[in-house]
Amino acid sequence: MEKYVINGGNALRGEVEISGAKNAAVAIIPAALMVDGICRIENMPQISDTDMLLTILSHLGAEVKLINKNTIEIDSRNVRFCDAPFDLMRKIRASYYLIGAMLGRFGVAKTTMPGGCNFGVRPIDQHIKGFNALGADIEVKNGFIFAEAPEGRLHGSRIYLDKVSVGATMNIILAATLASGRTIIENAAREPHIVDLANFLNSMGADIRGAGTDTIKVNGVERLHGGSYSIIPDQIEAGTYMVAAAATAGEVLVKNVIPKHLECISAKLRETGTIVQEYEDSVLVKGSGNLRKANVKTLPYPGFPTDMQPQMGTLLAMANGTSVVTEGIYDNRFKYVNELRKMGADVQVDGRIAIFEGNAKLTGAPVMACDLRAGAAMVIAGLCASGTTQIEDIHFIERGYENFVGKLRALGADIAIVDFPDEPEIHEKAVSVG
Ligand code: EPZ
Repeated sequence: MEKYVINGGNALRGEVEISGAKNAAVAIIPAALMVDGICRIENMPQISDTDMLLTILSHLGAEVKLINKNTIEIDSRNVRFCDAPFDLMRKIRASYYLIGAMLGRFGVAKTTMPGGCNFGVRPIDQHIKGFNALGADIEVKNGFIFAEAPEGRLHGSRIYLDKVSVGATMNIILAATLASGRTIIENAAREPHIVDLANFLNSMGADIRGAGTDTIKVNGVERLHGGSYSIIPDQIEAGTYMVAAAATAGEVLVKNVIPKHLECISAKLRETGTIVQEYEDSVLVKGSGNLRKANVKTLPYPGFPTDMQPQMGTLLAMANGTSVVTEGIYDNRFKYVNELRKMGADVQVDGRIAIFEGNAKLTGAPVMACDLRAGAAMVIAGLCASGTTQIEDIHFIERGYENFVGKLRALGADIAIVDFPDEPEIHEKAVSVG
């Protein structure tokens, strides 16, 4: 079993190049299904979630060509509606974007219920509400989602989302792009990756306005033509390196970013006494070595991103004083705290609130990556801890961070991927009672 092995104590120093945004890429790849031509997509992050989606598209008949490590061409002209590989779809949450894309392209879709990180219940009722409003019949049965537009093509509608949802906003945009008529999405999510999806579709001939605000208008078009597009930098990957630089009292220039997307993260880090200098497409982070406490509440964009909560919590576990972290998006996103406690953190969790007592002197330990961002938090903890930390289940981390170990090593981290022989299953031996 492959694990990360980290010998902590090195301050991160140097420069890191941020890759394309995972949460934009996992919507743009399904969107390419709707394009009647060749899509050339640059700055594609090389991570397992995008690999998985590209494999699914190939199974559906799309021609996927790797131009270089981060540039692909997708030709979906020969895609015919058929059952997608359900075993793959089940593994990632973003497979649900295939519903919006296939409904838009074929007027019919069949996918599995989505997988993805487990933070408690993650319903898709708002997605279904949107598809119903656009004229699709949806049935959820035996772990599958069946969707069909009885008239063969969806029609425009006005949809008010009961909950600000990134996925539902993106999925409704996908389904509405080739529908007949206008769709208005109100109470829409405003994340940068939503704007990126809209910009990708518009560059292929769609007519989407207002992405990035809470009201998005989609005028359905007849077809999408081919073209090329470059994915925005990953806000959360950038934030992860920013927090790692601050936590290790290092000095890192985080390059290929859009500083505006990082404003909330930069502001929160400054509260802890970290210096953050913004340039045109990079930010310089200087750790003070004397972290101050700060309170955090995660909110939809432009608020503090929930996907940065575990990383920030790890930093606050070491800050001077007590910090309160409130998880505003999910019911149960503090599972990483149990792992952090193994390394010496003092944290009390009560539902969506965690109280970090601070001043922890973390010590290395064998820990688990509970999910993608929890795993990144464990890496940050390992980088700061004295001694050696081993992190299991690194496949979660590999889903969302391109070349994580390589980039960290280039910054001076003592981290490596080590393949350990699988521990023998420990079976309770039958104990004969004499
Ligand atoms: C996306 O998930 C991201 N994943 C998540 O990132 C991110 O945490 C989340 O947005 C919030 O920013 C991808 O983009 C692949 P939501 P998504 O719909 O779309 C509830 C990562 O680490 N909700 O905005 O599933 C939901 O339960 C991952 O990169 C409903 O109630 O998130 C949650 O409490 C983890 N009904 C809240 O809304 C619905 O129909 C926000 O969820 C949909 C969502």
